[in-house]
Amino acid sequence: MNLVFLGLPGSGKGTQANLLAKEYDIVSISTGDLLRNEIKNQTKIGLEAKKKIDNGDLVDDVVVIEILKNKIISQSCKNGFILDGFPRNINQAIKLDEMLKENNKKLTKVYNFVIDEDIIVKRILGRFSCNKCGAIYNKYYKNTTIDGVCDNCGSKEFDKRLDDNEITIKKRIEIFNQSNFKIVEFYSKNNLIVSVDALKLVPLIFEDIKSSINNNLN
Ligand code: AP5
Ligand code: MG
Repeated sequence: MNLVFLGLPGSGKGTQANLLAKEYDIVSISTGDLLRNEIKNQTKIGLEAKKKIDNGDLVDDVVVIEILKNKIISQSCKNGFILDGFPRNINQAIKLDEMLKENNKKLTKVYNFVIDEDIIVKRILGRFSCNKCGAIYNKYYKNTTIDGVCDNCGSKEFDKRLDDNEITIKKRIEIFNQSNFKIVEFYSKNNLIVSVDALKLVPLIFEDIKSSINNNLN
């Protein structure tokens, strides 16, 4: 089962990808997380990507495709994957098709998270995540059960993303709006698109996607 999650920044792609990856024993691949990891490790890719990410711009296609390529075909993805935040433009969508074809894989569904822009700003500004396991929290909507301790791994260290500020959020929304409709159109031709009401509560969205996946499996 190979899924793609599309949606505005803060629409909940990462939150749902993590829950569903556990549920179906598949791998959640966030290109944003992969790039932030490169930055953390101060690699050449990371140093180049940092400026773009901090500005809310897209990182070059060649760079993103390079770090994604080996991941999709790795043994860890044998049961499938969820691509969270890829593709971001038509070129990436075409390259993804090529990569999948070369490896005898195909997409099962593409979930398009639909939400109003005014909601996501508060979500993004309230976001923080565990420095160790990456679990995503929110100071307004989903705090840790014990204050300052990650529910998932017990770590006491948390990060806030540098691109989670009002100026960068505006830019990220602008870029998303320039390209997402073309990607939706691209996948609609193959009947792959499923719309997700991303305004709902986290467990309700989880149930919606699960029932769509299960319908598809049956
Ligand atoms: P990326 O990391 O992909 O960021 P994004 O697309 O902007 O999306 P976010 O991670 O901000 O949001 P999300 O939808 O995952 O929401 P989350 O679940 O965390 O990309 C960052 C940058 O990397 C890009 O700007 C670009 O520079 C670069 N990049 C990445 N991919 C690239 C690519 N393919 N090509 C080129 N460049 C690329 O939820 C948000 C918050 O809301 C959390 O706090 C969460 O707890 C909360 N929340 C979630 N769901 C709900 C709900 N239903 N109700 C209430 N709160 C909720
Ligand atoms: Mg994310």
